[in-house]
Amino acid sequence: MENGKISRRKAIATVSAGTLGALTFQPFSAFSYNTTKKLAIHGGEKVRNAAWSDWPVWDTSAETDVTEMLRSGRWWRGSGEHVAEFERKYAELMGAKRCLATASGTTALLVAMHVLGVDAGDEVLVSPYTFIATYNVIFMNKALPVFVDTDPETFLINTNKIEERITDRTTAILPVHIYGLPVDMDHVNSIAQKHDLKVIEDACQAWLGEYKGKKLGTLGDLGCFSFQNSKNLPTGEGGAITGNDEEMMDRCHSFHNCGRPFGSVPATSDYPLRGSNRRMQQIQAIMLLSQMERIEKDAEVRLANARYLDENLREIPGIVPCKLVEGENRSACHMYPFRFISEKFDGISREKFIAALRAEGIPCSSGYGPQNKDGLIEEALNSRGYKRLFSEKRLKKWREENYLPGNDQLCREAVTFYQSLLLGTHSDMDDIVNAIRKIYENRKSLA
Ligand SMILES: Cc1ncc(COP(=O)(O)O)c(C=O)c1O
Repeated sequence: MENGKISRRKAIATVSAGTLGALTFQPFSAFSYNTTKKLAIHGGEKVRNAAWSDWPVWDTSAETDVTEMLRSGRWWRGSGEHVAEFERKYAELMGAKRCLATASGTTALLVAMHVLGVDAGDEVLVSPYTFIATYNVIFMNKALPVFVDTDPETFLINTNKIEERITDRTTAILPVHIYGLPVDMDHVNSIAQKHDLKVIEDACQAWLGEYKGKKLGTLGDLGCFSFQNSKNLPTGEGGAITGNDEEMMDRCHSFHNCGRPFGSVPATSDYPLRGSNRRMQQIQAIMLLSQMERIEKDAEVRLANARYLDENLREIPGIVPCKLVEGENRSACHMYPFRFISEKFDGISREKFIAALRAEGIPCSSGYGPQNKDGLIEEALNSRGYKRLFSEKRLKKWREENYLPGNDQLCREAVTFYQSLLLGTHSDMDDIVNAIRKIYENRKSLA
């Protein structure tokens, strides 16, 4: 950046392919775009008129399996082979000993939490920068979600702030690899070990993301995934748990199948354990097996494009790409997140920036809000059950500690691109960079 203009040297720099191997980047070709043109939000020409790629993408070759399964009547996992096949293949892909398919990511979290012993009156340490399901499941278990502040630079739980929130009721840590970004799991696991806590990874957005060369969702006691329609591996609704402890995974299986005996869960009766129906259907598994054909290639394309955006967007004042936790780590790139620093854009609001960017033909959104202040929290804490389970003193302290400046800052500054934008071409990424450069150059007209 020179005198507030994007330097040509930086603009044409070739980005290193890093660990991507086969994929190489083309030089940044967008420097010829005249970014001083009138903004589209003011009636000027859009940077981009073309549509973005659709999501999800269906491969018709899987329709034979779907039809055959439908005609056979073997629709549930008990009578068909597709769910078990998916579990085998997903465990292999993740480098985990076992996988259990579930009806959704939420049910995966519910099963994991029950099996790891999170009980009524317990406390669970959790990141507030996440989808609401992460802590709804804590409430469903009648435990107290205790929010640990977010590090706005990484978008993740600030692991330095975990220990100060531990009490004699804490039983588990629930780190969230939000947007597929890897949490510092060594730090989380060392705290868990020291205080005898369980670790449930919310990897619902983190298929194929890695921490120190290992797949996210395989680093804690259990990892939970979602395959809901918008996800990088979609099947409408679906989920999975991954784990390396055979006995624990047997208990997960038993619990998700109404508490029936399974593996090391002995058949002392028809239903030896408490349980629930959290099973995946056959059709979900067939769709997943088909989607898995493309997931590794898609992940490479998203990552290459995300790195290209990182390199080029960080040259624009006020645009701060998310910082990856140090080490041999890789994001699963569910969403491309960055922070918008309003002061560098002459004080224009993030909402105005987003509106201007959308007008240029670039879909984007503002990420999560400060959900630790959502109505559902007080609704839960004021309920008869929670008043019975937690003392007035504890709930008062919880409310006093529900001050999360890092998370509040991120909720004000975050901007995200949907994951399917990252499946675009190199010139699609140039459209994104050009649109933001154009808004930067024209920022005074928005002030
Ligand atoms: C971070 C996170 N946790 C949990 C879930 C819940 O998954 P599902 O929608 O499959 O129940 C989601 C899904 O959106 C998620 O993004």
